[in-house]
Amino acid sequence: MLILVTNIHYLLNVRQSNELLRGKQMQQLPTIENAYLVIKNGIIEEMGSMNNVPEKHFDVVYDAKHASVLPTWCDSHTHIVFAKTREQEFVDKLHGLSYADIAARGGGILNSAAALQATSEQQLYEAAKKRIEEVMQLGTGAIEIKSGYGLTVADEIKMLRVIQQLKASLPIPIKATFLGAHAIPLTHRNNKQGYIELVINEMLPIIAKEQLADFVDVFCEHNFFSVTDTEIILEAAYKYSLRAKIHANQLSVSGGVEVGVKHKALSVDHLEDMNEKSIHALANSNTIGTILPTAAFFLRMQYAPVRNMLNENCALALASDYNPGSSPSGNMNFVVALACIQNEFLPEEAINAATINGAFAMNIENELGSITVGKKANLIFTKPIPSVAYIPYHFGTPVIDKVMINGNWI
Ligand code: NIG
Ligand code: FE
Repeated sequence: MLILVTNIHYLLNVRQSNELLRGKQMQQLPTIENAYLVIKNGIIEEMGSMNNVPEKHFDVVYDAKHASVLPTWCDSHTHIVFAKTREQEFVDKLHGLSYADIAARGGGILNSAAALQATSEQQLYEAAKKRIEEVMQLGTGAIEIKSGYGLTVADEIKMLRVIQQLKASLPIPIKATFLGAHAIPLTHRNNKQGYIELVINEMLPIIAKEQLADFVDVFCEHNFFSVTDTEIILEAAYKYSLRAKIHANQLSVSGGVEVGVKHKALSVDHLEDMNEKSIHALANSNTIGTILPTAAFFLRMQYAPVRNMLNENCALALASDYNPGSSPSGNMNFVVALACIQNEFLPEEAINAATINGAFAMNIENELGSITVGKKANLIFTKPIPSVAYIPYHFGTPVIDKVMINGNWI
């Protein structure tokens, strides 16, 4: 099937080479104005100016009528498999409790774990599939999903099997991350070491044998897992070739950034609380910093100091953190808008962070993240927009007209 798309106002993020963008490079959003695009069997085949449209037979010609086209969002950090929403905790927060207060009294992640343990694989699968289909309509064309609401051997494996089923049944790339070290379960309240041993000696070998995960994650935070705990888990996971994506510096300067960098993590995520040392460590590494502005927004916490990080030449991605506790939304359009409004990303930087750098943060940069010959035709078609800046500027208002996945409208 050969498709020609004509009359594209702006074709955004057109790249010949695949390079992780850092610092000032993130300001460049290569664009073809008044463009055409050719798609062959779901793969980008060719693009250029409307003055040079190839003259050959196309099975379908689609007139974009001055819509703009950009690669779909690569959402590289979510917890989209969960059993129950947690709006009661949201109300508790409105009454003055903090995220840490709620966690300390057995709510939060432990609340989600109790619900997940009581829910079947099939129910979890169906609910997560529906959520993914919803965010695909909002322009997400690849997604990473973490375990971490199981917290027992059987339930962590159950979560990862759900993700495996989602991979098999949905048309977008999905990556699975094993986050056994998300919280210390009540069964091990006074025996964290015992739980870490369970993660390393019982969960990891099964996960590796059944190839249930692509990455490993640890919530490196005071009252959760320390730098030493994190190191022990990362070292064990590397033996099974699982690269790390760490929850770091969300509630405090936890040392998570430095330990992630030391162990060549693919990404360190959150980064709301950064000091000079952690920014410096990240800037001088190949580890991506993934910013999750909707989590800071929803928890009413400080926003990651993005300008300082970009000035130091960090490579940054943007993701939704979709989960029932700290970011009950997977709308990447709002993530991009909020990233500009609160983290002070420039529009071009935010779009790069949510597309090409997000693809790098999932190891799918050869398939997605830019308009590049040979990559998948996972594309957002906007309503007519006057400029790139209009995308984050017009926050909360749907800017997407249609979404294409593998060359098909969804
Ligand atoms: O990324 N911080 C740890 N994990 C999640 C929240 C999980 C939850 O509250 O259920 C996060 O914000
Ligand atoms: Fe998270």
